[in-house]
Amino acid sequence: MPITWRDADRELHLHNGLLSLVLRVHENGWLGQLHAGAPLDPGRSYAHLAALPFTGFSNRLDDPLGFAVPTAGSGDFRIPALVVEGPDGATVLDLAYVAHRIAPGKPALDGLPSTYVEGPDEATTVEVDLRDGPTALTVTLVLTIFEGRAAIARSMRLANHGRDRLVIRTAMSASLDLPAGEWDVLTFSGAWARERHPYRSPLVPGRRSVGSLRGASGHQQDPSIFLVRPETTEEHGEGFAVSLVYSGNFLAEAELGARGATRARIGLPSEGFAWTLLPGATFTTPEAVMAWSNEGLGGLSDTLHDLYRERLARGRWRDRPRPVLLNSWEGVYYDFDHDRLLEMARAAADLGVELFVLDDGWFGERDSDTTSLGDWIVDHRKLPDGLGRLAADMEGLGLSLGLWIEPEMVSPVSRLFAEHPDWAIGVPGRARTESRQQLVLDLSRPEVVDHLEGAFAEILANASVRYVKWDMNRNITEPYGATLPPDRQGEFFHRYMLGTYELWRRLTTRFPEILFESCAGGGGRFDPGMLAYAPQGWTSDDTDAIERLAIQWGTSHVYPLSSMAAHVSAVPNHQVGRVTPLATRAAVAFFGLFGYELDPRHLSADERAEIRDQIAFYRRHRELFQRGRFVRLRAPFGRDDAAWMVVASDRRSAIVARIRILDRPVRVTDRLQLRGLDPGLSYAVETWPAPSPGGRVRRGGDLLQSVGLGLEPSDPPEQAPRGDFRAWIWVLTAE
Ligand code: DGJ
Repeated sequence: MPITWRDADRELHLHNGLLSLVLRVHENGWLGQLHAGAPLDPGRSYAHLAALPFTGFSNRLDDPLGFAVPTAGSGDFRIPALVVEGPDGATVLDLAYVAHRIAPGKPALDGLPSTYVEGPDEATTVEVDLRDGPTALTVTLVLTIFEGRAAIARSMRLANHGRDRLVIRTAMSASLDLPAGEWDVLTFSGAWARERHPYRSPLVPGRRSVGSLRGASGHQQDPSIFLVRPETTEEHGEGFAVSLVYSGNFLAEAELGARGATRARIGLPSEGFAWTLLPGATFTTPEAVMAWSNEGLGGLSDTLHDLYRERLARGRWRDRPRPVLLNSWEGVYYDFDHDRLLEMARAAADLGVELFVLDDGWFGERDSDTTSLGDWIVDHRKLPDGLGRLAADMEGLGLSLGLWIEPEMVSPVSRLFAEHPDWAIGVPGRARTESRQQLVLDLSRPEVVDHLEGAFAEILANASVRYVKWDMNRNITEPYGATLPPDRQGEFFHRYMLGTYELWRRLTTRFPEILFESCAGGGGRFDPGMLAYAPQGWTSDDTDAIERLAIQWGTSHVYPLSSMAAHVSAVPNHQVGRVTPLATRAAVAFFGLFGYELDPRHLSADERAEIRDQIAFYRRHRELFQRGRFVRLRAPFGRDDAAWMVVASDRRSAIVARIRILDRPVRVTDRLQLRGLDPGLSYAVETWPAPSPGGRVRRGGDLLQSVGLGLEPSDPPEQAPRGDFRAWIWVLTAE
């Protein structure tokens, strides 16, 4: 059993040979955390790890003892995981162990996205009940350890068994106590078109946090926090990754205490949050996933990638090869009609594209972003014969039709807004802030969710739409739930997310054959919560190949390539004006879910030939690109080139890409040490698209990893061309 309970020591040990989490009921009944991380022998007691014999807190502030559910106000002055206000207004809790249950499998989280198992042997779950006597609050800590994965999922269920109303002020999904030692904090931050760049810094006394209060996880911060040793590299060293399976407001925080202990927590932020728990009611926090590795950042990413690709993403498209698509947005924006789309589609089909995505602009009278969100009726000026006809015509060309939608929004200039102005979020008596000339619908209201389900079901049932891009282009301002009483407004943001998840659940369940892609002005809600409904997301609105190096590099710390849509667009690039070679744009976009975002009618014959080759190459290696192990080799920060690779699970094939960012007059003899290969195998190394002058060479896996792949000026390519923004691709095949 991967979870053992030592009755004599009152210790609970979650173990699977890859990591351990050891909890212990302290003498006063509180649930302590003795160890998290490296796998330990489950046959032993670890009581001695509770640094000092537990005698209470009266004279010991900032004690390094670890707790599974730290609370505030009882002598542990560090960041708490749980703050609940009782009927007397006090927030002190005395959570004593009551019971625990160990069972195979993993239960689903009510109304929330979560990781899952497909059979009871894939994981074991323990539920530990803790009870606060005076308030009759029961806290159930739910911990799941997965078989064969260095990961534990955690959530909390709060149940009010008393007679009085309680108010939850803080309810973290996970709290992690680490003993004294040095840690670096790694988070992923950015902005619109600059998402998830990695930021790493030593944790110093005090707190370091990232979060969102915008009603979505946001472009600005990823809902995750990594704690790694200062010496941890991509390949070596210890680290933890804690990632939240949620798409709304969040807090991820680490605190270094006075006596050297570190606590990390992740979950719903306390700002703007207060949840009333009436007698008999329960509240479930979102789920957090904790991964541990002694094999560096790469080890943490491997665990998260596999778990998120295999047991967070779900549905028929989880394991299917994802189609190469052409998206209309950067090609024609709002300026299209049936015939123009068909011409584009014809050109795209000729290139080998498999799916044509009609982006924004097909409904209401949407010729710009000033109007029509909410009016989900085909614009017959542009598409006189409707979507059904368009889909049929596309199918005639051998293409599937995909469609852009933005369900959560309404334009003030729309029929929907004229009919239901109260459905838009806002505080009565106050002006609403517009952003991109649009407002957000109040999805905490069931009638709004019902309406949207009906509107989209109608569209999707009546045209053969095979893919849906679900966009969300602004954040919530003037948060207020018109149907919530004044003293429950603190529930609004989370209720909005619950309603949004419910709409996702209904539409993905009703249309299981449709491939859903999430989007939020690019990667403004690219998070594990969304992955539970849509197996892929639009990584960023920035399609420039050089910008994308940093965005995809950062994103890959948490998310697998099977979740990251990446497109080749026209030059000069629409976001930064940069001109990069077509080959480079493809070389970067290959490492993701490949597509194009341009008008194929305007390509030269040479470009068409090149794109045909690119698509054929991607389709040939699609399995490797979409499901292979992604290995980060050279970070695109502070140097002149970047490199990464994908390796097949049997290590018999791999594709390596190196992108030169800036060229220099004198090149150094350079070698790129690869990783993840089989050192005992011999690989045929070929360059793509043009074979290197020396032709195919044979290299041992040991050499490729220890000495490296020869880059300029020797070895393939012998005569590396001059110029910035060049790309090289090597295909490795075991012989
Ligand atoms: C933002 C998305 O990220 C873009 O790809 C595009 O779909 C536009 N919205 C359309 O309004």
